[in-house]
Amino acid sequence: VAVQYRLSGDTATTIAASVEQGVREQALLPGSALPAVRTLAADLGVSPATVAAAYQRLRQRGIVSTAGRNGTRIRSATPISALRSARQIIAPEGLRDLASGAPDPAELPLPGNYRDGGVLPGVLAAARKRLPLKGSFTLVSGALDGMDRVLLAHLRPGDRVGVEDPGWAACLDLLAMQGLVPVPVPVDDDGPTVAGLKSALDSGISALIVTARAQNPTGGSISAARAKALRPLLTGLLVIEDDHAAELAGVPLHPVADAGAHWAFIRSASKPFGPDLRCAVLAGDAETVSRVEGRMRLGAGWVSTVLQRELLRLWSTFDPAPAGRRYDSRRAAVLTALARRGITALGKTGINIWVPVPDETKAVSVLRDAGFAVAPGHLFRLTSPPGIRVTIATVTETDVEPLAEAIAAATETGLRGMLGR
Ligand SMILES: Cc1ncc(COP(=O)(O)O)c(C=O)c1O
Repeated sequence: VAVQYRLSGDTATTIAASVEQGVREQALLPGSALPAVRTLAADLGVSPATVAAAYQRLRQRGIVSTAGRNGTRIRSATPISALRSARQIIAPEGLRDLASGAPDPAELPLPGNYRDGGVLPGVLAAARKRLPLKGSFTLVSGALDGMDRVLLAHLRPGDRVGVEDPGWAACLDLLAMQGLVPVPVPVDDDGPTVAGLKSALDSGISALIVTARAQNPTGGSISAARAKALRPLLTGLLVIEDDHAAELAGVPLHPVADAGAHWAFIRSASKPFGPDLRCAVLAGDAETVSRVEGRMRLGAGWVSTVLQRELLRLWSTFDPAPAGRRYDSRRAAVLTALARRGITALGKTGINIWVPVPDETKAVSVLRDAGFAVAPGHLFRLTSPPGIRVTIATVTETDVEPLAEAIAAATETGLRGMLGR
């Protein structure tokens, strides 16, 4: 099949992106031949080395293969989903389909088959209604799964990624596993600080991961003013925004992700509806979402429609807002009891509070002696000062005073410890 689609670009990156767009839009179908390197170089007015570098990238990403005289062709299965029609009909109309490799639906206790897999239209429509963002939408298996896939879609080992400090421990572990280099961005109650982001940008980050609301562990959430100040700084980055508090959050959402060159905004169902659902809505630019879906097709396939139906049912029958209000009042009770003891802790939103302590090990052990297990801050910190994370989700009225008393003792002990007692 000769190429009709017009390729464009003047660098290896933009030429490769133009091929990828052709695949995404189904203008370049599996098996299509790309022009010879020299031909395309002459057409585009670039050096053959530039086109060769673009083809090399596409080969490394599994989008094309090159076989001697056969030239460079689009592979039969690419890690990019075709957004126009995710489901390809393989058997031509009018033929008995004996090509599918799939079991007989009549013999299956569960509805659905390989060709019907994907995000249910009802889920897509409901997700669009629930999120104030434009872009492409898909479904992944939780927030961490979404982050994993988006990072893999765009970055390579050694790339630098701005992360909140302190920040979500699992996210730091994920970066380590992908060989990515975390660059700390300090946070306050209103999100990542502008000065912190600027210095991360100076250090050459290609991506930033931020939490919209209920930052873990500090409970911060991005305010309208902070979002406005951050957005212009994000235009050259891949931005991943995690809105895990979702419907539980008692504060408005001020998204920043869609200011990025590439972006993903991820809203997990874990916190409001249950971690065992393993579902998160992922909104993003077309390139990012098609890479995520395309790669997923070659592995998990899609998020099971069994789960999707359950998600739809919960969306329409369960309101998480009252639970959110109960978490708010538990958090407020602990913060007030701490304030009465002269202790300022962070925790504007969500189910965690962050208490600065001089010595984490001592603080954790004092609290353990008092009957409370809390998380030591080193799990969450890169260069920020020590603290402990206390999850207030299950705190009862009778817990509040003994807990505040124990935290007061924990911070004091640490201070005395630092002073050499
Ligand atoms: C910051 C943050 N994001 C997301 C999640 C939820 O992750 P998942 O959707 O993978 O269950 C958590 C859970 O603790 C979290 O702390």
